[in-house]
Amino acid sequence: MPAELVCIAESCRARFPVTEIVYNCPRCGGLVEAVYPRQECPPDHWKALWRNRRTSNAALDQSGVWRYREFIAFGSEAHAVTLREGNTPLLEGRGAAGYGGLDRLVFKHQGFNPTGSFKDNGMTCAVAQARRLGLRRVGCVSTGNTSASMAAYASAAGLDPVIFIPNGNIAYGKLAQALEYGARTLQVEANFDQILALVRRLADRLGIYLLNSINPFRIEGQKTIMLEMMDQREWRAPDWVVVPGGNLGNTSAFGKAFREMREWGLIDRTPRLAVIQAEGASPFYELFRSADHSRLVANPHPETLATAIKIGDPVSWPKALHEVLSSNGTVERVTEQEIADAKAVIGRCGIGCEPASAATLAGIRKLTAAGTIKRDADVVAVLTGNVLKDPDYIHRYHTGTLEDPAGRPIRSTYGNAPEVVPADDERIAELLAK
Ligand code: F0G
Repeated sequence: MPAELVCIAESCRARFPVTEIVYNCPRCGGLVEAVYPRQECPPDHWKALWRNRRTSNAALDQSGVWRYREFIAFGSEAHAVTLREGNTPLLEGRGAAGYGGLDRLVFKHQGFNPTGSFKDNGMTCAVAQARRLGLRRVGCVSTGNTSASMAAYASAAGLDPVIFIPNGNIAYGKLAQALEYGARTLQVEANFDQILALVRRLADRLGIYLLNSINPFRIEGQKTIMLEMMDQREWRAPDWVVVPGGNLGNTSAFGKAFREMREWGLIDRTPRLAVIQAEGASPFYELFRSADHSRLVANPHPETLATAIKIGDPVSWPKALHEVLSSNGTVERVTEQEIADAKAVIGRCGIGCEPASAATLAGIRKLTAAGTIKRDADVVAVLTGNVLKDPDYIHRYHTGTLEDPAGRPIRSTYGNAPEVVPADDERIAELLAK
């Protein structure tokens, strides 16, 4: 049986060859996911093979995605272009653990990727698929990181990237990357959800292959974040994996990764998934807490300073809901103040991250206070983006000028404002003696 795309709707399960362009099932409109036959091999064989590749100088072996190519075997590796994505560290944050009400807390820091976010894990796969299909023009709608990543990978692969972003609502570091990597960049006067609907209408007409997380090959690449984490942990599953939720591609990818790792016999226990949203953009939280799980009620006006997750109508919610429920996980939401303070605490650990990523620590603090996560639990929080993505937010927080989307001031609880001093030896010595 070759690799295929399968509709996830129980009542449909339509199958399509991986060489067809399918985002939603043409029969029922459901999401599709990639499936492939499992190669029969003892789990220890895979573990040894993947570990040994870390010492190789071959480009694909050096990639923290393609090193695990048997686990993403949809047949595009011959077309892969790698910037050595993945290979992101597990970092212990002592101060952050205390703040989060835990004995110990480890961050899987996806901000160490080539373009500074977890998107690179998925993008290398989706771009390989674009090349395999012989497509030249690729596009995405983005709150910033997807576009930065797509611009880099498409340009590295010699493709033609077109980016659609909400005008004025993306962090400067991300916009700068898209421009520098040479993508045609359109700033559309609408929010993320509206632009995504527009581009999905236009994709065919403009000959654009969509590289948003609706693209099932993005999800395949993002599975390797969890595979690499398990490899780094000697295959001991944590109790909890905590992740920020926006369009919910990551949540879907992580759940699929753990399901498949169990099927392969690589692990015998699945961690619980905790998804954290910003209060002003939390439709998945509302869905999870409501009695009716059959329909997500979109928020037409999502608001948060964590612009990466400023999404009111997440496309991957059916996949994400399935994964959170089947892992016995949970969904929490946090305020702008909670995100801002948690972010500064992660910074003080010498680690740092962008605002959306800090929702994880803010969520952990709430979940331990509520007793959902126990103090001695083994917890990994996924930091999705690099600290330098949004320097404007940082400067405002530390100088006490950050305001929430409604214009209310955010306290700089852990503020660290720079001091202006005269070029005077005595005055500087005096100041630092205090
Ligand atoms: N964290 C960061 C830093 C992100 O950029 C995103 C999504 C998320 C979390 C949420 O991940 O969508 O898988 O639930 N950014 C997308 C983008 C939407 O366009 O860059 P998700």
